[in-house]
Amino acid sequence: SMDGRCLASLPKAELHLHLEGAMRAETLTELCRKHGVKRPMDTRGQRFADFSPFASCYIAVCECLREKADLERLVLEVAEDASASGALWIEPALSIDLYADQFGGVEATLHLLFQAAEAAEEATQVAMGFIVAAERHLPVARAEALAKKVRDVVTSGAGIHGRPGILGFGLHSDEANHPPEPFAEAFHLACSDLVVPLPHAGEFAPTGGGAKSVRFCVDHLKAVRIAHGVLAAEDQELVEHLAKLQVCLDVCPTSNELLGVMPVTESALTKLLAAGVPCTINSDDPLLFGSSLLGEFRRCRDELKMSDEQLAACADLIQVIEEKENIGVRQVL
Ligand code: ADE
Ligand code: ZN
Repeated sequence: SMDGRCLASLPKAELHLHLEGAMRAETLTELCRKHGVKRPMDTRGQRFADFSPFASCYIAVCECLREKADLERLVLEVAEDASASGALWIEPALSIDLYADQFGGVEATLHLLFQAAEAAEEATQVAMGFIVAAERHLPVARAEALAKKVRDVVTSGAGIHGRPGILGFGLHSDEANHPPEPFAEAFHLACSDLVVPLPHAGEFAPTGGGAKSVRFCVDHLKAVRIAHGVLAAEDQELVEHLAKLQVCLDVCPTSNELLGVMPVTESALTKLLAAGVPCTINSDDPLLFGSSLLGEFRRCRDELKMSDEQLAACADLIQVIEEKENIGVRQVL
């Protein structure tokens, strides 16, 4: 089976990584000190009681992003850490509504992030395209306003080294209390040939509801990829539907364990792969969970007993390229 070095050098894409949640722990300490704000608790490796303490922590992390230099440092370090895990391509998701006011609004913040991504790519050879996401705990009108700004920035042609800077429109935060249906119009406004729908779904949901939100996102939002989606495994008919349509699931095993979705040893990942559903392996929020892309591949090998072939399939950049909508990575590879 793949040894440490082999697993590290396996060329990877990381498709599910929250930019703010991928900040280095030391960087959070330093930014909090610089801005005179209280440092949120170090939660790495700890089990969260439910989504609410996680959400509070996430909001507090975003509050330490205040200056252009903070965003530049964050983007560069995220690219450096991706490179250390063997990633060539990453798609960081932005909880931009939580801090854009500090930078003159959403459009101005996106332009800063595109510049930071160009510099990071030159320094690390790791290329990226962003997913801009609405926070589902905020009013639906906020999501729709964000969607219009995404559409405007994308049609303006602004990007990263001539590629589109935004690849997807997402939906973050507490799925159990905020189902996707009211956000359909926001997805309709934001999505196009260049911007794919990438909602978080099938992560947590009211008892028995996890599969239902995945089905809604596939059938009504036309998602060809789902952030998490692991609760779809509870519904055999849906699993067959996902396999038939080749909907790709971004699976985050450590995140699922620490948010109480399912332990790594019982991850639905192997079941979904066996049923023919394409999946990728991802770290979600390294800052909050203590996860890393390479660490997730190791846990899948050691604890979930995945074969080399299964691991390579989950890392396979071809899978990403074949997602026909994904213009960014095709221009890079
Ligand atoms: N925001 C950051 N990480 C998240 C997750 N795993 N689920 C929903 N929203 C998030
Ligand atoms: Zn996530």
